[in-house]
Amino acid sequence: RTEQEVAVLADIIQKAEPFVQQQLEHDHSGHDWWHIDRVRKLSLKIAAKEGADLFVCELAALLHDVADEKLNDSKQAGLDKVEQWLRLHVSDPDMITHVMTIIATMSFNGGKNPPMETLEGQVVQDADRLDALGAIGIARTFMYAGSKGSIMHHPDQDFSQHEYRAAGKSAIYHFYEKLLKLKDLMNTAYAKELAETRHQWMEMYLEQFYREWNVDVK
Ligand code: ADP
Ligand code: NI
Repeated sequence: RTEQEVAVLADIIQKAEPFVQQQLEHDHSGHDWWHIDRVRKLSLKIAAKEGADLFVCELAALLHDVADEKLNDSKQAGLDKVEQWLRLHVSDPDMITHVMTIIATMSFNGGKNPPMETLEGQVVQDADRLDALGAIGIARTFMYAGSKGSIMHHPDQDFSQHEYRAAGKSAIYHFYEKLLKLKDLMNTAYAKELAETRHQWMEMYLEQFYREWNVDVK
């Protein structure tokens, strides 16, 4: 890329920031601006190690949660909003398609989505998943559970009969349903390394949580 092309791309990133900030302003479910900022920085780190396109990764990371169903009338309405923004700011149609494909297909979806096709998609997906792990991931889980009125834990494995089940599964349940599975779903070698450490922190956290829950402390 020429110096001029790089300057144009840097300008797009600068314009994406306030757009995303404004879109996520009212979110309290763990999609706040600082989540986006961490995913962007993690994406750039992984991209540099893996030789991915830094610009595509950074732009997709910045926009990845704007289309989230929780913040829009529907998934499609969210995607349309992002595409409209891209059309206004990015002239290369292939780049628009690439970023849109990443955003549309990167969610966890119970691990059922097809694998990411491009390296850039793999990088941004890894970065988003890493932010669900470790100390930050634990904090986000309890924030999310709190925002939904879910309980933090129930000692019965199957508490589906209890009335508070209506407010969603417990925060601790989310570790088993999703978080502890993520390290094996990482796409890139560098993200696997980072995930390993964060996974260990969660394991240690759960051990101590159960010790305190059971008043099994010395
Ligand atoms: P993202 O796409 O950024 O990972 P999600 O909408 O999947 O966002 O989740 C936002 C945050 O809330 C993540 O940290 C996720 O692990 C957590 N979370 C999602 N669903 C639940 C749940 N049912 N209980 C507790 N935490 C949850
Ligand atoms: Ni996210």
